[in-house]
Amino acid sequence: MAFNKRTKINVLLKTASIDDRVTLMGWVRTKRSNKNVTFIALNDGSCIQNFQVVADPEVIPEDILKRVNTGACLKINGVLVASQGTGQSVELAADEVILLGESDPEKYPIQPKKHTMEFLRENAHLRVRTNTFAAIFRIRHNLAFAVHEYFHNKGFFYIHSPIITASDAEGAGETFRVTTLNPKNPPLASEGVVDFSQDFFGRETNLTVSGQLEGELAALALSEIYTFGPTFRAENSNTTRHLAEFWMIEPEMAFYDAEDNQNLAEEFLKYVISFALTSCGDDLAFLNQRADEEEKLKKADQRSPMSLIERLKFVVENEFTRITYTDALEILRQSSPNKKKKFTYPIEDWGMDLQSEHERYLVEKHFNKPVIITDYPKAIKSFYMRQNDDGKTVAAMDILFPGIGEIVGGSQREERLGKLEERMDELAISREEMWWYLDTRRFGTTPHAGFGLGFERLVQFVTGMGNIRDVIPFPRTPGNAEF
Ligand code: 4AD
Ligand code: MG
Repeated sequence: MAFNKRTKINVLLKTASIDDRVTLMGWVRTKRSNKNVTFIALNDGSCIQNFQVVADPEVIPEDILKRVNTGACLKINGVLVASQGTGQSVELAADEVILLGESDPEKYPIQPKKHTMEFLRENAHLRVRTNTFAAIFRIRHNLAFAVHEYFHNKGFFYIHSPIITASDAEGAGETFRVTTLNPKNPPLASEGVVDFSQDFFGRETNLTVSGQLEGELAALALSEIYTFGPTFRAENSNTTRHLAEFWMIEPEMAFYDAEDNQNLAEEFLKYVISFALTSCGDDLAFLNQRADEEEKLKKADQRSPMSLIERLKFVVENEFTRITYTDALEILRQSSPNKKKKFTYPIEDWGMDLQSEHERYLVEKHFNKPVIITDYPKAIKSFYMRQNDDGKTVAAMDILFPGIGEIVGGSQREERLGKLEERMDELAISREEMWWYLDTRRFGTTPHAGFGLGFERLVQFVTGMGNIRDVIPFPRTPGNAEF
């Protein structure tokens, strides 16, 4: 007989009927024992609920019972019986308890009590065994699935853009180098200049910061595509919203203008959030309660007017506000924090970049809902964005979410070869190196647009977690790559 003949707890909770014979496998959350009976709360990760197991003393010999502790892994055979206690209607009366893996209660870090997020980050290898992290990662999975489902149903094709590239799509110069050269003794082209032609790829390469440029190549053949992969940025930002390795979803569509792009982004975000609301009810209810408790610790005027679940429903049910950069800047200029000099960065001349304090004011105080800001000054945006007729702005959009700030960045792309080359020259981006990108504008160019959704920021929004390091299994941040 195969070893893995077991019932998962999530299935059991739906189908259980008295007298069924089942096998459970999972990890002990708690054990309570007296001389007549032992109660074990078992969790197998399939859902937030533990399943209660009862065992008579003859089923678990004394020496085994001592080793059944929080964190231990068990295989349990038994029969479902009506539960005496509250909570669950059935429980498993064990007739065999097999200790698959024991756990030293003195050393196991994940005790059945409240741990701080910092402590759990230091124990990221075991933190998924807590209710909070298991819920987060189940929701993360569901959101990823919803992303694929949404695009698949709309006829978009999933493109795997490369992870190693020779370009810096965003032009921010925040790339991680990929090399096999000996750092102690690299070949030199001239004094102090490394000869990358002798490197593995015969040129300088880095980890990708975005799959967009390759996505554009595919969109100009397959019409509608998306990428969904890891991206890497060596920005030294120690914030609650930045990772050095994060996942990005980048749809790219031929025959879309800026407004089509905004419509798609709004529909897409609403789809994946409502998917989580319908598919992750128990986990969201748990995180909702967790968020409520956190809110209670805040000062009354700092508290969010909505619970986590109310906020998710609100986003799904209400239209996003759309506003130009120019209008947003005027709102900020007239705002009371600006007049009272409360912003760290006061509102200055047209052209300044918006800081997260500004974004949060617009979303959380002024509009109180998601906001799409469009038509930014071209000087603060990437080279590939389509230039508007005013000569000053580009057809960019950023989507800002309450509690998160920027969640999406995108634009209509500059499809006119002459305009694109002109902009690249201004920014000293090599046309020769980007010949392949420019070829799409030489052969069958067309209006097209796309955007990038930071997947962890989405997971943060849906789970209500304050720190982005808590929504990816093993976060990569400056000074941090332990697990
Ligand atoms: O605004 P960004 O830099 O846009 C691009 O990369 C474009 N190529 C997207 C496109 O048009 N195809 O990044 C897009 C999103 C941001 O809005 C943010 O949600 C997320 O990616 N993001 C990060 N998430 C976590 N950590 C970081 N360091 C991030 N940098 C960007
Ligand atoms: Mg951006």
